[in-house]
Amino acid sequence: MANTSRSIHGQWSSRFAFILAATGSAVGLGNIWKFPYITGENGGGAFVMVYLACVAALGIPIMIAEIMLGRRGRQSPINTMQSLAQEAGRDPRWHYLGWSGMIAGFLILAYYSVIAGWAMAYIFKAFFGAFIGSDAIEIKQLFDDLMAKPTQQIFWHSAFMFLTMAVVMRGVQGGLEKAVRFLMPTLFVLLVVLVGYAMTTGTYDQGVDFLFTPDFSKIDADAVLTAMGHAFFTLSLGMGAIMIYGSYLPGDVSIARTTFYIAGADTVVALLASIAIFPLVFANNLEVGAGPGLIFQTLPLAFGQMTGGWLFGIVFFVLLFFAALSSSISLIEPAVAWLVENREIERHQACVWSGLSCWALGVAVVFSFNVWSDVTLFGKNLFELLDYLTANLLLPLGGMAIAIFVGWQMQRHHAEQELALPSSGFDVWYLLIRYLAPAAVFLVFLHVAGIL
Ligand code: PHE
Repeated sequence: MANTSRSIHGQWSSRFAFILAATGSAVGLGNIWKFPYITGENGGGAFVMVYLACVAALGIPIMIAEIMLGRRGRQSPINTMQSLAQEAGRDPRWHYLGWSGMIAGFLILAYYSVIAGWAMAYIFKAFFGAFIGSDAIEIKQLFDDLMAKPTQQIFWHSAFMFLTMAVVMRGVQGGLEKAVRFLMPTLFVLLVVLVGYAMTTGTYDQGVDFLFTPDFSKIDADAVLTAMGHAFFTLSLGMGAIMIYGSYLPGDVSIARTTFYIAGADTVVALLASIAIFPLVFANNLEVGAGPGLIFQTLPLAFGQMTGGWLFGIVFFVLLFFAALSSSISLIEPAVAWLVENREIERHQACVWSGLSCWALGVAVVFSFNVWSDVTLFGKNLFELLDYLTANLLLPLGGMAIAIFVGWQMQRHHAEQELALPSSGFDVWYLLIRYLAPAAVFLVFLHVAGIL
Protein backbone atom coordinates (compact mmCIF):
# COMPACT_ATOMS: atom_id res chain seq x y z
CA MET A 1 0.00 0.00 0.00
CA ALA A 2 1.31 3.44 -0.90
CA ASN A 3 2.44 5.82 1.81
CA THR A 4 -0.28 8.47 2.23
CA SER A 5 1.27 10.73 4.88
CA ARG A 6 2.31 14.32 4.18
CA SER A 7 4.89 16.73 5.51
CA ILE A 8 3.65 19.80 7.40
CA HIS A 9 5.86 21.87 5.09
CA GLY A 10 4.03 20.88 1.92
CA GLN A 11 4.37 18.48 -0.96
CA TRP A 12 5.58 18.50 -4.59
CA SER A 13 2.71 18.89 -7.03
CA SER A 14 3.75 15.84 -9.06
CA ARG A 15 6.45 13.30 -9.72
CA PHE A 16 7.82 15.51 -12.47
CA ALA A 17 8.08 18.43 -10.06
CA PHE A 18 10.11 16.28 -7.70
CA ILE A 19 12.43 15.17 -10.49
CA LEU A 20 12.97 18.78 -11.47
CA ALA A 21 13.61 19.92 -7.93
CA ALA A 22 15.91 17.04 -7.07
CA THR A 23 17.76 17.43 -10.36
CA GLY A 24 17.94 21.14 -9.60
CA SER A 25 19.53 20.29 -6.28
CA ALA A 26 21.96 17.82 -7.80
CA VAL A 27 22.98 19.83 -10.85
CA GLY A 28 24.84 22.89 -9.71
CA LEU A 29 28.26 24.37 -9.23
CA GLY A 30 29.42 20.84 -8.41
CA ASN A 31 28.92 19.77 -12.01
CA ILE A 32 30.00 22.82 -13.93
CA TRP A 33 32.52 24.53 -11.67
CA LYS A 34 33.91 21.85 -9.38
CA PHE A 35 33.98 18.63 -11.38
CA PRO A 36 36.16 20.04 -14.19
CA TYR A 37 38.68 21.62 -11.86
CA ILE A 38 39.11 18.64 -9.56
CA THR A 39 39.39 16.41 -12.62
CA GLY A 40 42.17 18.70 -13.86
CA GLU A 41 43.90 18.67 -10.49
CA ASN A 42 43.72 14.89 -10.25
CA GLY A 43 45.07 13.98 -13.67
CA GLY A 44 41.93 13.32 -15.76
CA GLY A 45 40.77 9.91 -17.03
CA ALA A 46 41.43 7.66 -14.07
CA PHE A 47 39.82 10.15 -11.72
CA VAL A 48 36.75 10.34 -13.98
CA MET A 49 36.48 6.53 -13.96
CA VAL A 50 36.61 6.32 -10.18
CA TYR A 51 34.04 9.07 -9.95
CA LEU A 52 31.67 7.31 -12.39
CA ALA A 53 32.09 4.02 -10.51
CA CYS A 54 31.23 5.79 -7.24
CA VAL A 55 28.11 7.37 -8.74
CA ALA A 56 26.91 4.00 -10.01
CA ALA A 57 27.81 1.75 -7.08
CA LEU A 58 27.39 4.13 -4.12
CA GLY A 59 25.57 7.24 -5.28
CA ILE A 60 22.53 5.62 -6.86
CA PRO A 61 21.80 3.07 -4.09
CA ILE A 62 22.36 5.67 -1.36
CA MET A 63 20.17 8.19 -3.13
CA ILE A 64 17.37 5.63 -3.21
CA ALA A 65 17.90 5.02 0.50
CA GLU A 66 18.01 8.69 1.40
CA ILE A 67 14.87 9.65 -0.53
CA MET A 68 13.13 6.68 1.04
CA LEU A 69 14.04 7.74 4.58
CA GLY A 70 12.77 11.22 3.87
CA ARG A 71 9.47 10.03 2.52
CA ARG A 72 8.90 7.65 5.38
CA GLY A 73 9.86 10.22 8.02
CA ARG A 74 8.13 13.25 6.46
CA GLN A 75 10.03 15.75 8.62
CA SER A 76 13.35 17.58 8.75
CA PRO A 77 16.25 15.10 8.63
CA ILE A 78 16.89 15.39 12.38
CA ASN A 79 13.31 14.54 13.31
CA THR A 80 12.97 12.02 10.51
CA MET A 81 15.96 10.08 11.82
CA GLN A 82 14.61 10.27 15.33
CA SER A 83 11.19 8.94 14.44
CA LEU A 84 12.49 6.26 12.09
CA ALA A 85 14.94 5.05 14.75
CA GLN A 86 12.01 4.87 17.11
CA GLU A 87 9.85 3.02 14.62
CA ALA A 88 12.64 0.47 14.18
CA GLY A 89 13.18 0.22 17.93
CA ARG A 90 16.74 1.56 17.66
CA ASP A 91 18.92 4.05 19.48
CA PRO A 92 17.38 7.56 19.28
CA ARG A 93 20.88 8.94 18.86
CA TRP A 94 20.51 8.22 15.16
CA HIS A 95 19.13 11.74 15.01
CA TYR A 96 22.73 12.99 15.20
CA LEU A 97 22.97 11.90 11.59
CA GLY A 98 20.44 14.62 10.86
CA TRP A 99 22.52 17.09 12.82
CA SER A 100 25.71 16.32 10.97
CA GLY A 101 23.87 16.75 7.70
CA MET A 102 22.34 20.04 8.70
CA ILE A 103 25.74 21.38 9.74
CA ALA A 104 27.33 20.13 6.52
CA GLY A 105 24.66 21.91 4.46
CA PHE A 106 25.28 25.10 6.35
CA LEU A 107 29.05 24.92 5.87
CA ILE A 108 28.71 24.11 2.17
CA LEU A 109 26.29 26.96 1.55
CA ALA A 110 28.71 29.45 3.13
CA TYR A 111 31.26 28.91 0.35
CA TYR A 112 28.78 27.84 -2.32
CA SER A 113 27.21 31.27 -2.13
CA VAL A 114 30.58 32.95 -2.63
CA ILE A 115 31.30 30.96 -5.80
CA ALA A 116 27.76 31.56 -7.04
CA GLY A 117 28.49 35.24 -6.43
CA TRP A 118 31.42 34.95 -8.86
CA ALA A 119 29.00 33.58 -11.45
CA MET A 120 26.72 36.58 -10.88
CA ALA A 121 29.64 38.96 -11.27
CA TYR A 122 30.45 37.24 -14.56
CA ILE A 123 26.93 37.81 -15.90
CA PHE A 124 27.70 41.50 -15.81
CA LYS A 125 31.20 41.14 -17.17
CA ALA A 126 29.72 39.20 -20.10
CA PHE A 127 27.05 41.83 -20.60
CA PHE A 128 29.56 44.68 -20.74
CA GLY A 129 31.62 42.83 -23.32
CA ALA A 130 34.60 42.10 -21.08
CA PHE A 131 35.40 38.85 -22.88
CA ILE A 132 35.20 40.08 -26.45
CA GLY A 133 38.51 39.63 -28.27
CA SER A 134 40.38 38.92 -25.02
CA ASP A 135 43.28 36.47 -24.91
CA ALA A 136 44.01 33.96 -22.16
CA ILE A 137 46.16 36.41 -20.20
CA GLU A 138 43.51 39.11 -20.18
CA ILE A 139 40.82 36.65 -19.16
CA LYS A 140 42.96 35.37 -16.31
CA GLN A 141 43.61 38.95 -15.22
CA LEU A 142 39.87 39.54 -15.07
CA PHE A 143 39.50 36.63 -12.66
CA ASP A 144 42.51 37.60 -10.56
CA ASP A 145 41.11 41.12 -10.22
CA LEU A 146 37.84 39.77 -8.86
CA MET A 147 39.71 37.54 -6.40
CA ALA A 148 41.70 40.49 -5.13
CA LYS A 149 38.57 42.52 -4.34
CA PRO A 150 36.76 41.40 -1.18
CA THR A 151 34.14 44.14 -1.37
CA GLN A 152 32.94 43.07 -4.82
CA GLN A 153 32.82 39.44 -3.81
CA ILE A 154 30.96 40.26 -0.61
CA PHE A 155 28.46 42.27 -2.60
CA TRP A 156 27.67 39.35 -4.93
CA HIS A 157 27.75 36.80 -2.14
CA SER A 158 25.21 38.91 -0.21
CA ALA A 159 23.01 39.20 -3.28
CA PHE A 160 23.08 35.45 -3.84
CA MET A 161 22.36 34.63 -0.22
CA PHE A 162 19.47 37.07 -0.22
CA LEU A 163 17.95 35.47 -3.31
CA THR A 164 18.39 31.99 -1.88
CA MET A 165 16.55 32.88 1.28
CA ALA A 166 13.86 34.70 -0.70
CA VAL A 167 13.12 31.49 -2.62
CA VAL A 168 13.24 29.26 0.44
CA MET A 169 10.87 31.62 2.24
CA ARG A 170 8.17 30.98 -0.34
CA GLY A 171 8.07 27.31 0.52
CA VAL A 172 7.89 24.05 -1.34
CA GLN A 173 5.59 24.70 -4.29
CA GLY A 174 5.65 28.47 -4.53
CA GLY A 175 9.41 28.85 -4.28
CA LEU A 176 11.48 25.75 -4.83
CA GLU A 177 9.41 24.21 -7.57
CA LYS A 178 8.91 27.31 -9.70
CA ALA A 179 12.57 28.17 -9.63
CA VAL A 180 13.66 25.03 -11.47
CA ARG A 181 10.94 24.44 -14.03
CA PHE A 182 12.51 26.17 -17.00
CA LEU A 183 16.14 26.01 -16.01
CA MET A 184 17.26 22.46 -16.67
CA PRO A 185 16.39 22.13 -20.36
CA THR A 186 17.97 25.47 -21.28
CA LEU A 187 21.14 24.68 -19.40
CA PHE A 188 21.42 21.43 -21.25
CA VAL A 189 21.04 23.07 -24.66
CA LEU A 190 23.66 25.68 -23.90
CA LEU A 191 26.16 23.09 -22.77
CA VAL A 192 25.66 21.26 -26.04
CA VAL A 193 26.38 24.53 -27.90
CA LEU A 194 29.60 24.92 -25.92
CA VAL A 195 30.64 21.38 -26.69
CA GLY A 196 30.00 22.22 -30.35
CA TYR A 197 32.37 25.16 -30.05
CA ALA A 198 34.99 22.99 -28.31
CA MET A 199 34.91 20.72 -31.35
CA THR A 200 36.17 23.58 -33.50
CA THR A 201 39.25 24.27 -31.36
CA GLY A 202 41.52 21.67 -32.92
CA THR A 203 42.33 20.31 -29.47
CA TYR A 204 39.02 18.55 -29.00
CA ASP A 205 40.60 15.10 -29.18
CA GLN A 206 43.25 16.05 -26.69
CA GLY A 207 40.57 17.23 -24.29
CA VAL A 208 38.51 14.09 -24.70
CA ASP A 209 41.61 11.91 -24.31
CA PHE A 210 42.50 13.67 -21.11
CA LEU A 211 39.02 12.97 -19.76
CA PHE A 212 38.51 9.40 -20.88
CA THR A 213 41.88 7.70 -21.18
CA PRO A 214 42.63 6.49 -17.68
CA ASP A 215 46.16 6.41 -16.33
CA PHE A 216 45.83 4.95 -12.87
CA SER A 217 49.37 5.88 -11.93
CA LYS A 218 48.11 9.46 -11.69
CA ILE A 219 45.83 8.87 -8.73
CA ASP A 220 46.42 8.02 -5.10
CA ALA A 221 44.24 7.43 -2.05
CA ASP A 222 43.48 11.14 -1.70
CA ALA A 223 42.32 11.36 -5.29
CA VAL A 224 40.05 8.37 -4.73
CA LEU A 225 38.59 10.06 -1.67
CA THR A 226 38.06 13.27 -3.64
CA ALA A 227 36.31 11.33 -6.43
CA MET A 228 34.12 9.48 -3.95
CA GLY A 229 33.38 12.64 -1.97
CA HIS A 230 32.44 14.39 -5.17
CA ALA A 231 30.00 11.63 -6.08
CA PHE A 232 28.16 12.45 -2.85
CA PHE A 233 28.49 16.19 -3.32
CA THR A 234 27.25 16.28 -6.87
CA LEU A 235 24.23 14.10 -6.10
CA SER A 236 23.47 16.17 -2.97
CA LEU A 237 23.82 13.06 -0.81
CA GLY A 238 24.76 12.40 2.77
CA MET A 239 23.51 15.62 4.30
CA GLY A 240 19.73 15.52 4.24
CA ALA A 241 19.02 17.68 1.18
CA ILE A 242 17.69 14.77 -0.84
CA MET A 243 16.11 13.37 2.32
CA ILE A 244 14.07 16.51 2.88
CA TYR A 245 13.14 16.68 -0.79
CA GLY A 246 12.00 13.08 -0.41
CA SER A 247 9.85 14.14 2.53
CA TYR A 248 7.82 16.29 0.13
CA LEU A 249 7.37 13.44 -2.33
CA PRO A 250 3.90 11.99 -2.93
CA GLY A 251 3.60 8.45 -1.62
CA ASP A 252 2.83 6.70 -4.89
CA VAL A 253 5.92 7.73 -6.84
CA SER A 254 8.59 5.13 -7.68
CA ILE A 255 11.74 6.20 -5.87
CA ALA A 256 14.15 3.95 -7.74
CA ARG A 257 13.09 5.05 -11.20
CA THR A 258 13.24 8.75 -10.38
CA THR A 259 16.70 8.25 -8.87
CA PHE A 260 18.00 6.94 -12.18
CA TYR A 261 16.74 10.03 -13.98
CA ILE A 262 18.29 12.38 -11.47
CA ALA A 263 21.67 10.67 -11.34
CA GLY A 264 21.73 10.31 -15.12
CA ALA A 265 21.02 13.98 -15.76
CA ASP A 266 23.57 15.00 -13.17
CA THR A 267 26.31 12.88 -14.72
CA VAL A 268 25.58 14.03 -18.25
CA VAL A 269 25.83 17.69 -17.24
CA ALA A 270 29.18 17.16 -15.49
CA LEU A 271 30.61 15.32 -18.48
CA LEU A 272 29.32 17.88 -20.99
CA ALA A 273 30.82 20.72 -18.97
CA SER A 274 34.20 18.98 -18.93
CA ILE A 275 34.08 18.16 -22.62
CA ALA A 276 33.42 21.84 -23.28
CA ILE A 277 36.23 23.04 -21.03
CA PHE A 278 39.30 20.83 -21.52
CA PRO A 279 39.78 21.39 -25.27
CA LEU A 280 39.91 25.13 -24.46
CA VAL A 281 42.47 24.50 -21.75
CA PHE A 282 44.74 22.75 -24.22
CA ALA A 283 44.07 25.15 -27.11
CA ASN A 284 45.21 28.07 -25.00
CA ASN A 285 48.05 26.38 -23.16
CA LEU A 286 46.29 26.87 -19.87
CA GLU A 287 47.00 24.81 -16.82
CA VAL A 288 44.74 21.81 -16.21
CA GLY A 289 45.32 22.17 -12.48
CA ALA A 290 44.29 25.83 -12.34
CA GLY A 291 41.93 25.13 -9.43
CA PRO A 292 38.66 26.88 -8.54
CA GLY A 293 39.18 29.55 -11.20
CA LEU A 294 39.25 27.02 -14.07
CA ILE A 295 35.86 27.65 -15.68
CA PHE A 296 36.18 31.38 -15.17
CA GLN A 297 39.48 31.33 -17.04
CA THR A 298 38.43 29.07 -19.90
CA LEU A 299 34.81 29.52 -20.95
CA PRO A 300 35.05 33.33 -21.32
CA LEU A 301 37.73 32.68 -23.95
CA ALA A 302 35.20 30.73 -25.99
CA PHE A 303 32.58 33.42 -25.53
CA GLY A 304 35.07 36.09 -26.54
CA GLN A 305 35.82 34.35 -29.83
CA MET A 306 32.74 32.50 -31.05
CA THR A 307 29.94 33.97 -33.16
CA GLY A 308 27.11 34.99 -30.88
CA GLY A 309 29.55 34.73 -27.96
CA TRP A 310 28.33 37.89 -26.30
CA LEU A 311 24.82 36.49 -25.93
CA PHE A 312 25.94 32.95 -25.11
CA GLY A 313 28.25 34.31 -22.42
CA ILE A 314 25.43 36.14 -20.70
CA VAL A 315 23.04 33.22 -20.99
CA PHE A 316 25.64 30.75 -19.72
CA PHE A 317 26.41 32.65 -16.53
CA VAL A 318 22.73 33.34 -15.94
CA LEU A 319 22.12 29.59 -16.15
CA LEU A 320 25.05 28.81 -13.91
CA PHE A 321 23.57 31.21 -11.41
CA PHE A 322 20.19 29.46 -11.61
CA ALA A 323 21.79 26.04 -11.33
CA ALA A 324 23.54 27.26 -8.19
CA LEU A 325 20.32 28.74 -6.82
CA SER A 326 18.35 25.53 -7.28
CA SER A 327 21.07 23.73 -5.32
CA SER A 328 21.59 26.32 -2.61
CA ILE A 329 17.94 26.24 -1.61
CA SER A 330 18.27 22.54 -0.85
CA LEU A 331 21.40 23.10 1.23
CA ILE A 332 19.55 25.26 3.74
CA GLU A 333 16.09 23.63 3.60
CA PRO A 334 16.91 21.00 6.28
CA ALA A 335 17.90 23.74 8.74
CA VAL A 336 14.86 25.86 7.96
CA ALA A 337 12.48 22.92 8.32
CA TRP A 338 14.08 21.94 11.61
CA LEU A 339 13.81 25.48 13.00
CA VAL A 340 10.13 25.55 12.08
CA GLU A 341 9.47 22.14 13.65
CA ASN A 342 11.48 22.47 16.84
CA ARG A 343 11.78 26.16 17.60
CA GLU A 344 8.18 26.91 16.71
CA ILE A 345 9.01 29.93 14.61
CA GLU A 346 7.58 30.96 11.28
CA ARG A 347 9.25 29.89 8.06
CA HIS A 348 10.32 33.43 7.18
CA GLN A 349 11.98 33.95 10.57
CA ALA A 350 13.78 30.64 10.23
CA CYS A 351 15.06 31.85 6.86
CA VAL A 352 16.32 35.12 8.25
CA TRP A 353 18.30 33.50 11.05
CA SER A 354 19.81 30.67 9.11
CA GLY A 355 20.54 32.94 6.14
CA LEU A 356 22.26 35.61 8.20
CA SER A 357 24.54 33.23 10.02
CA CYS A 358 25.49 31.43 6.85
CA TRP A 359 26.14 34.77 5.18
CA ALA A 360 28.56 35.76 7.95
CA LEU A 361 30.61 32.61 7.48
CA GLY A 362 30.60 33.27 3.73
CA VAL A 363 32.20 36.67 4.30
CA ALA A 364 35.09 34.91 6.04
CA VAL A 365 35.32 32.59 3.01
CA VAL A 366 35.64 35.65 0.73
CA PHE A 367 38.62 36.79 2.78
CA SER A 368 40.25 33.40 2.37
CA PHE A 369 40.71 34.26 -1.32
CA ASN A 370 42.57 37.48 -0.55
CA VAL A 371 43.38 39.15 2.77
CA TRP A 372 43.32 35.89 4.74
CA SER A 373 44.77 33.65 2.05
CA ASP A 374 47.77 33.00 4.31
CA VAL A 375 45.67 31.94 7.25
CA THR A 376 45.79 28.16 7.00
CA LEU A 377 45.14 25.03 9.02
CA PHE A 378 46.64 21.72 7.85
CA GLY A 379 47.92 23.73 4.89
CA LYS A 380 44.41 24.73 3.78
CA ASN A 381 42.75 28.13 3.80
CA LEU A 382 39.17 28.48 5.05
CA PHE A 383 37.58 27.76 1.67
CA GLU A 384 39.68 24.63 1.17
CA LEU A 385 39.07 23.53 4.71
CA LEU A 386 35.29 23.82 4.45
CA ASP A 387 35.33 22.05 1.12
CA TYR A 388 37.46 19.18 2.45
CA LEU A 389 35.55 18.84 5.69
CA THR A 390 32.19 18.65 3.94
CA ALA A 391 32.77 16.93 0.58
CA ASN A 392 35.55 14.58 1.66
CA LEU A 393 34.48 13.80 5.22
CA LEU A 394 30.96 14.73 6.31
CA LEU A 395 29.10 13.70 3.15
CA PRO A 396 30.74 10.27 2.69
CA LEU A 397 30.33 9.59 6.42
CA GLY A 398 26.71 10.70 6.24
CA GLY A 399 26.15 8.48 3.21
CA MET A 400 27.76 5.53 4.97
CA ALA A 401 25.59 6.09 8.03
CA ILE A 402 22.46 6.23 5.87
CA ALA A 403 23.46 2.92 4.26
CA ILE A 404 24.07 1.34 7.66
CA PHE A 405 20.78 2.58 9.03
CA VAL A 406 18.77 1.36 6.06
CA GLY A 407 20.68 -1.90 5.67
CA TRP A 408 21.04 -2.93 9.30
CA GLN A 409 18.70 -0.95 11.53
CA MET A 410 15.50 -0.36 9.66
CA GLN A 411 13.17 -3.28 9.15
CA ARG A 412 13.55 -4.81 5.74
CA HIS A 413 9.83 -4.96 5.09
CA HIS A 414 9.50 -1.22 5.68
CA ALA A 415 12.07 -0.59 2.96
CA GLU A 416 10.30 -3.07 0.70
CA GLN A 417 7.02 -1.35 1.27
CA GLU A 418 8.40 2.14 0.46
CA LEU A 419 10.29 1.10 -2.64
CA ALA A 420 7.74 -1.33 -4.08
CA LEU A 421 10.36 -2.86 -6.39
CA PRO A 422 10.27 -6.23 -8.13
CA SER A 423 12.04 -8.58 -5.76
CA SER A 424 15.18 -9.11 -7.84
CA GLY A 425 15.71 -5.36 -8.11
CA PHE A 426 15.16 -4.98 -4.41
CA ASP A 427 17.68 -7.72 -3.61
CA VAL A 428 20.43 -6.10 -5.66
CA TRP A 429 19.81 -2.73 -4.06
CA TYR A 430 19.70 -4.27 -0.59
CA LEU A 431 23.03 -6.02 -1.10
CA LEU A 432 24.65 -2.79 -2.25
CA ILE A 433 23.25 -0.85 0.69
CA ARG A 434 24.02 -3.46 3.32
CA TYR A 435 27.49 -4.49 2.28
CA LEU A 436 29.08 -2.68 -0.60
CA ALA A 437 28.28 0.94 0.26
CA PRO A 438 29.39 0.95 3.91
CA ALA A 439 32.44 -1.21 3.20
CA ALA A 440 33.60 0.88 0.24
CA VAL A 441 33.44 4.17 2.11
CA PHE A 442 35.14 2.61 5.11
CA LEU A 443 37.96 1.14 3.02
CA VAL A 444 38.63 4.43 1.28
CA PHE A 445 38.90 6.13 4.66
CA LEU A 446 41.30 3.47 5.95
CA HIS A 447 43.37 3.89 2.85
CA VAL A 448 43.57 7.67 3.20
CA ALA A 449 44.49 7.33 6.87
CA GLY A 450 47.37 5.12 5.77
CA ILE A 451 46.06 2.10 7.69
CA LEU A 452 45.55 0.06 4.56
N1 PHE B 1 24.79 18.88 -5.69
C1 PHE B 1 25.10 20.27 -5.66
C2 PHE B 1 26.07 20.59 -6.79
O1 PHE B 1 26.54 19.73 -7.46
C3 PHE B 1 25.67 20.71 -4.34
C4 PHE B 1 24.91 20.22 -3.17
C5 PHE B 1 25.53 19.39 -2.25
C6 PHE B 1 23.58 20.55 -2.98
C7 PHE B 1 24.86 18.88 -1.17
C8 PHE B 1 22.87 20.05 -1.90
C9 PHE B 1 23.51 19.23 -1.02
O2 PHE B 1 26.38 21.73 -7.01
